[in-house]
Amino acid sequence: MQSGLTDVFAAERVRAIAAAHQAERGALLPILHDIQAEFGYVDPAVEPVLADALNLSTAEVHGVISFYRDFRRECAGRVTVRVCRAEACQAVGANALVEHAEASLGVEMGDTTRDGAVTLDEVFCLGNCALGPAVQVGDRLHGRVSPARFDALLGEAR
Ligand code: FES
Repeated sequence: MQSGLTDVFAAERVRAIAAAHQAERGALLPILHDIQAEFGYVDPAVEPVLADALNLSTAEVHGVISFYRDFRRECAGRVTVRVCRAEACQAVGANALVEHAEASLGVEMGDTTRDGAVTLDEVFCLGNCALGPAVQVGDRLHGRVSPARFDALLGEAR
């Protein structure tokens, strides 16, 4: 939560999201997805709130959040860049592109640049397999992304 879960509004929203799914089987995952969609990440401070709402232990909630790579633990940068690492893209250089991206941005996969501008993420298929390596910058999909094109896309995004 941008303002932290100590923010009364944020804590109330988390409780409301939990309440909306409470009766569902396996409610925790849809709740976590909704929290991430609303706040951009899943703040560690939601763990006890959700544990209380779902009658689980905090360790159980923490375990689920840690298990799924989908859930971001920190606020994302202004732009998220996702590089596909699935098989078809790997076959045409995705791993080299990931190395280039990490070096170019000075971060590791999953991290955000110090200036808060860009978050680098991996993804396993963007549905653009015939045009790999595929990269998504914000909500725009790009195909056949070479290292030079990656840098150009980043320049535009920043
Ligand atoms: S494998 Fe990369 S877009 Fe499908």
